[in-house]
Amino acid sequence: MNNDGVNSGRRKFLTATTSVVGVAGAVGIAVPFVGSWNPSAKAKAAGAPVKVDISKLEPGQMMTEEWRGKPVYVIYRTESQLESLPGLDGELKDPESKISDQPAYITGEDRSLKPEIMVLVGLCTHLGCAPKFRPEVGAADLGGDTWVGGFFCPCHGSKFDLAGRVFKGVPASANLVVPPYKYEGDNVIVIGVDSEVA
Ligand code: FES
Repeated sequence: MNNDGVNSGRRKFLTATTSVVGVAGAVGIAVPFVGSWNPSAKAKAAGAPVKVDISKLEPGQMMTEEWRGKPVYVIYRTESQLESLPGLDGELKDPESKISDQPAYITGEDRSLKPEIMVLVGLCTHLGCAPKFRPEVGAADLGGDTWVGGFFCPCHGSKFDLAGRVFKGVPASANLVVPPYKYEGDNVIVIGVDSEVA
């Protein structure tokens, strides 16, 4: 089946973070996301940039867009989630993203243009499954007290932090990919176009 025929509205959804802790697979509520607009299916298939309106995204939430046939996750990280990132460096394979794929203007442990907004290609760097957003601190099935939130790949168990950085001891060897992107104003992200930020 040609996926281009699928109503693009079905591809967009917003995942709301919940306070549920320690329940396997409890990743939130999927509700329709209506605040984005995109080029035609043909243009998308050819790799056209995709604009994403993040004005309705709230702290702790994640939404998914599609770019070049791949899912792209946009996560609004909370202050406490950002504060958890530096302390994880010793547990990560590539904490400074030296071997991982990201644009040159993306630096630091945040791996983002604006600290709170994370943009990631939602494909595991092991064999390409879609990692699940698992923001619940202390999730029992992901290590309990040591889990401060991140992504879990259900295919072979790779784990990534909330900057998409891969943990040691899992099959994936590289961090989740940060695609090229830029801002148009405060609330619109253009995925597929490089930022002019040096
Ligand atoms: S595809 Fe994700 S761990 Fe294998």
